[in-house]
Amino acid sequence: MDKLGIDLHLDVGEPRARSIESALREAVTTGRLPAGTRLPGTRGLAEDLGIARGTVVAAYAQLVAEGWLVSATGSGTRVADVTLPPTPRDIPVRRVVDLRPGRPDLSLFPHGPWAAAVKRALAAAGTGSMDYGDPAGSRELREAVATYVSRARGVRAEAGAVVITSGFTHALAVLARALRGSGTIATEDPGLAHHRRLIHGAGLETAPLRVGPDGADPAEIPSRASAVLLTPAHQHPRGVVLGQAARTAFLAWARDRDGYIIEDDYDGEFRYDKQPVGALQALDPDRVIFAGSASKALAPGLRLGWLVVPPRLRIPVLDALAATGATVGTPGQLALADLLDRGDYDRHVRRARVVYRKRRTELAARLAELTEVPLDGVPAGLHALLPLASAREERRLVDAGLEGGLQLAGLHAAGYWHSAEGAKAGLIIGYGTPPQHAWRPALDALTEVLRGAEIAPW
Ligand SMILES: Cc1ncc(COP(=O)(O)O)c(C=O)c1O
Repeated sequence: MDKLGIDLHLDVGEPRARSIESALREAVTTGRLPAGTRLPGTRGLAEDLGIARGTVVAAYAQLVAEGWLVSATGSGTRVADVTLPPTPRDIPVRRVVDLRPGRPDLSLFPHGPWAAAVKRALAAAGTGSMDYGDPAGSRELREAVATYVSRARGVRAEAGAVVITSGFTHALAVLARALRGSGTIATEDPGLAHHRRLIHGAGLETAPLRVGPDGADPAEIPSRASAVLLTPAHQHPRGVVLGQAARTAFLAWARDRDGYIIEDDYDGEFRYDKQPVGALQALDPDRVIFAGSASKALAPGLRLGWLVVPPRLRIPVLDALAATGATVGTPGQLALADLLDRGDYDRHVRRARVVYRKRRTELAARLAELTEVPLDGVPAGLHALLPLASAREERRLVDAGLEGGLQLAGLHAAGYWHSAEGAKAGLIIGYGTPPQHAWRPALDALTEVLRGAEIAPW
């Protein structure tokens, strides 16, 4: 536009004079043109808009008369320094602390080591790393992941079996596509609604597996199921561990029925009372697809995860990956490989584990002041389930939370049940989510909200 002025977008209609005037007035009063902004010269703006210069001159003069613009010889026309009424965006909103599950404390993210890893990795990889990469993931990350999951989670893996994804959500969408011919995937009840939706989106059905104190019940697998989706190390959301008998029964089912188990190991790094239970995959790498993610251990914004795939499924999985059109960017992969290889990933997990363990202990201690009912499940992960007496009470507490500046997730409200009828109620408290400075206030606010609540064991 005008060589002296700003690039100014105006929606100009008819009649031109009035329209330019109101478009400029709107741009000033909404703050789109801040005080002091120099407007384009009248000649330039008129040329740009394809109208007579006199029309622009008249519009500027009117807005100067109204006090929205000031005009000084030699410095053109500028937006006047007027105090604008607050826009909805300026009105302060009450801060709400998020205690819903699903996120780690992002303030713990190791920015320094990550930035150093990106720099080192890109320098080492050279320009070749900017080409289209291997759809299964970069060799460096597949090797690093194979080493890591073997060491930390007891997975039987080699780089050739690893497929890099942009997190578990992506992995599940790919797996559902790869298993598409096969009808039904049994999923935990309660379990994440968006995982069921992804499966449905691939044209498959889901069937519920009730989750008890020992995890999902293998006796409920319907005969039409060809795969089972489980969170064995720390069931989401109950927080229980899949018992030994159930592990054996699921594996026996997979062998007998030529089925697959998808092992979602979303927070397997975080167990606070003892060593986390080893991966189910180690007991039968031909039947169990192991899925991990950097979302809890590092940050979900990285969008990085991995699959360890049985040999028979490798080609269907790579075909499904190709069909989605999405692979994972190389710089992030190389940086994660570097972080894993140098031990920075483990160091971060160890540091974060100390923080989350303390929070879990503090949460349990606070609740013990209010109720004798313990949190469901084992001390692990970044969330815990508080069982409640009814869905009505759950709703009341979620609303009371918002009143008290807390976002809380309820089993019913967040759609965890396949069918809500007769289903139990509870709050899933994501104690990993608040940043460090907000944790104590969040705990205080939660204690207030839960005072007098109808907490009852299932
Ligand atoms: C049960 C479960 N699985 C997996 C994930 C991780 O998903 P993603 O790797 O897509 O971030 C989460 C995160 O909230 C989860 O709750």
